[in-house]
Amino acid sequence: MERTKFILDEKDMPTSWYNIQADLPEPLPPLLHPGTKEPTILPPPLFCDALNEQEFSKERWIEIPEELQRIYHTWRPTNLYRAYRLEKALDTPAKIFYKYEGTSQAGSHKPNTAIAQAYYNKQAGVKRIATETGAGQWGSALAMCCALFDIELKVYMVRVSYDQKPYRRNLMEVWGAKCVPSPSPDTQTGRNMLAKDPDCSGSLGLAISEAVEDALSRDDTRYSLGSVLNHVLLHQTIIGQEAQKQMEMTDVYPDIIVGCVGGGSNFAGMFLPWVRDKINGKKPDTRIICVEPESCPTITKGLYAWDYGDVAGMAPIALMYTLGHDFIPPPVHAGGLRYHGMAPIVCHLHKLGFVEARAVPQLATFEAGLTFARTEGIVSAPETNHAIRVVIDEALKCKESGESKTILLAHNGHGHFDMAAYDAYLSGKLVDYEYPEEKVKEALAHLPEVPTA
Ligand SMILES: Cc1ncc(COP(=O)(O)O)c(C=O)c1O
Repeated sequence: MERTKFILDEKDMPTSWYNIQADLPEPLPPLLHPGTKEPTILPPPLFCDALNEQEFSKERWIEIPEELQRIYHTWRPTNLYRAYRLEKALDTPAKIFYKYEGTSQAGSHKPNTAIAQAYYNKQAGVKRIATETGAGQWGSALAMCCALFDIELKVYMVRVSYDQKPYRRNLMEVWGAKCVPSPSPDTQTGRNMLAKDPDCSGSLGLAISEAVEDALSRDDTRYSLGSVLNHVLLHQTIIGQEAQKQMEMTDVYPDIIVGCVGGGSNFAGMFLPWVRDKINGKKPDTRIICVEPESCPTITKGLYAWDYGDVAGMAPIALMYTLGHDFIPPPVHAGGLRYHGMAPIVCHLHKLGFVEARAVPQLATFEAGLTFARTEGIVSAPETNHAIRVVIDEALKCKESGESKTILLAHNGHGHFDMAAYDAYLSGKLVDYEYPEEKVKEALAHLPEVPTA
């Protein structure tokens, strides 16, 4: 019988993170200071030195401290699966594999970086962290990791998700964090927004501004970000490195790698170790596809431009695809995919032609999620359903062409706290929403003027 699960032992877990900056054909553009607009590091009162070093390092391998490896072992290595039942249901000659990150304690890939960030902050003597969360996956992952290192945590949760996913908030509280809806009355940024629009459903850019303001206003507090930045993507590369070892056990090399993107961290964590083979010409034909919602089409409709990472213009300016930092997304259910920008590394590799992007409508993602749940058993996060949609579409193309391509899916989390979204879909209440072109133009009118650009 052919294998379904590809399992690594703890001793086979990678002991270094892979840093793509060592292998980029062209270096990444710098980050710019939001005030001076000059190249900058991550603002030091917000981030500790170790994370700043990782952000700009050009070392190919960065060793994972032993204490961290031991904590990683509580959920890693994660399994790779062959999706035989999905293949059969689709009647496709394609071979579909998925690497499942939903078995971490918090239910997604987010602890891969949360634990590293909590560790380095603890080493630096930090007592309290402030952060934002969209769907609640990042907030709960960091809550769990702060609990392990006895660090206090305050989470600003995008209002619409706070209302849609009350149990994610409870989960954060169980791990000892304080979670408030954003916009909140706790910061000037939040109060300004509430005065303008008391019913504001929030955005990741706004919640980031609140968390940054919180961290800047207190000496005992640092800020932590769950996606976008280079060091976050670096920590996630443990996913792709494990997947490489596991795909070696299958004797096939992926023709197509697919992941969903909000800020880009789970997708990058999977594809960065593989894209090295594409860059150095060993596997030039591998297709690497990221998937975003039609309601927040950052790469497919946004502009490649310098923009702030947050609404209030307190975070550094990055060259990235953006819908404009004051973009307020429609309240679709994939809360983790509603960020206005995108990881500069993902954008850079897209610009250089190594990564493709696709936008999909909400209803089609839930349809794909149900197919996956009814064949493979896993109820996936709404974010993950975006990637599953494209995996299914590619597998159906194989059915038409008769090709037996190998497709590797970055499956980044379960949807056990997203039942309200599934309920809305199953009861016919969900609708599609394509972000209008005029709104994109409007949001892009507020981009910062950058003299060096
Ligand atoms: C399950 C899940 N997938 C994906 C994302 C998007 O983040 P990223 O693109 O950084 O992986 C999130 C973010 O909250 C998430 O919760």
